[in-house]
Amino acid sequence: MSINIAIDGPSGAGKSTIAKMLAKKMEYVYVDTGALYRSVALYMLRNNVDINNDRAVGEELPKVDVRLTYNNGTQQVILCGENVSDSIRTPEVSMGASRVSAIPAVRQFLFDLQRNIAKENNIIMDGRDIGTVVLPNADVKIFLTASAEERASRRFRELSEKGDPSTYEEVLADINKRDYNDTHRDVAPLKKADDAAEVDTTSLTLEQSVEAIYKVINDRLSQKESVPAEEKPKEKSSLALKRESLDFSNVKPVTNPKPYSKIRAFGYLILRVFVTFCFKIAFNLKVYGKENVPKTGSNIFASCHRSNLDPIFIAINARVPNSYMAKDELFHCNKFFVWLIKYMGAFPVVRGSGDGGVISTSIQKLEEGRNLVIFPEGTRSKDGKLGRGKTGVALIAALAQVPVIPAAISFKGEKLKFRSKVIVTYGKPISPEELKIEGSDTRSLKKIKSVIMDGIAELVNENVNKL
Ligand code: DC
Repeated sequence: MSINIAIDGPSGAGKSTIAKMLAKKMEYVYVDTGALYRSVALYMLRNNVDINNDRAVGEELPKVDVRLTYNNGTQQVILCGENVSDSIRTPEVSMGASRVSAIPAVRQFLFDLQRNIAKENNIIMDGRDIGTVVLPNADVKIFLTASAEERASRRFRELSEKGDPSTYEEVLADINKRDYNDTHRDVAPLKKADDAAEVDTTSLTLEQSVEAIYKVINDRLSQKESVPAEEKPKEKSSLALKRESLDFSNVKPVTNPKPYSKIRAFGYLILRVFVTFCFKIAFNLKVYGKENVPKTGSNIFASCHRSNLDPIFIAINARVPNSYMAKDELFHCNKFFVWLIKYMGAFPVVRGSGDGGVISTSIQKLEEGRNLVIFPEGTRSKDGKLGRGKTGVALIAALAQVPVIPAAISFKGEKLKFRSKVIVTYGKPISPEELKIEGSDTRSLKKIKSVIMDGIAELVNENVNKL
């Protein structure tokens, strides 16, 4: 089996220079993962893709053909057939890489590539999330740091030698900005793995840094050799690793939500009375289980999905505004419409960009005192039968630890018609204790999901008898 050494740390800590020297000394393959993020940024910049638009970047990713090759042991980066090893080193690309690396779809896109290289070779891989996400089972993990000023002077010297006109102040400002971006992003932020050895190179020369890290590597590898095989941790599945690449370590349960503003709640009451009135005219609406709807906010409503009006059917009985996920496309329509859906609590889900941002936004909405409406099936059921639920609802419930209220919306036929009989039923709130939240691993999430889906199924069956 190959040996994997992970080196993480902020920009300019000397990771690549040190890792290259160590790889040579140890005859390992050196993998600079920053170059991959830089190549994605270069592609987007060259093709005039707005790197601040996650969706636009996500849509272009399938066209990005990036590969690493080795020439006399030196890594070469090939982007769509062109060797871009030098072109990716400009300050503009550095800043672009820092931006695109915060996009979940970009991280997932590069994930398998990095893992596959590590599977086949003895490697020293450097980056930001190698020890925490890409290779959580790496044999040795190093977290390399140095003060921002020291890193800026090193980078400044490097750039000046290449004839780059940037001043020291500009380089320092750049380093500080990239540090901020890299440590504050939602997905896989830069942080030290719990089992990484930290090495601060502020006052060390290059040779001293290499020696210090070489010693750590040797110590750790010889310690590992003396551990019996059965005590060594098992390789995690690629699926589990992908889920872990969404870092939820800073997502806390919703314990102290803000009470919803009384003034806004009053405005919402008026809107609710008006919408209920309109809906009662448009449909033959029957609501059951109103007593199960809590008077305060910060609950999850998990409902079956039958029509585009479902968020409103669920909302008209809640005293506190709800929030719900909506297709990103809806947020690029007419300004008034966008204002209205945002006021009604909708927030965008960008297709193909992973779940990280959506989960954090969902939790944030619960913390703001709103309820969160989730349709676990994802798509509408045409015949009223309950489809399979997705795991997202369980993950949010496990992380937020708030009550989940199952709900069912039922009507006959495929589409809602004027004066259709519509039945909305709310079930008893399922407390976090009843959900038996054990963790956010696949098995625990499946169990949570089935408790929620069983709750909805029961209500769907009850409704069928009343239609
Ligand atoms: O190491 P570098 O400066 O070449 O990295 C360029 C950018 O890519 C940096 O701002 C952070 C990002 N990056 C990342 O997010 N994860 C990695 N594994 C490597 C780099």
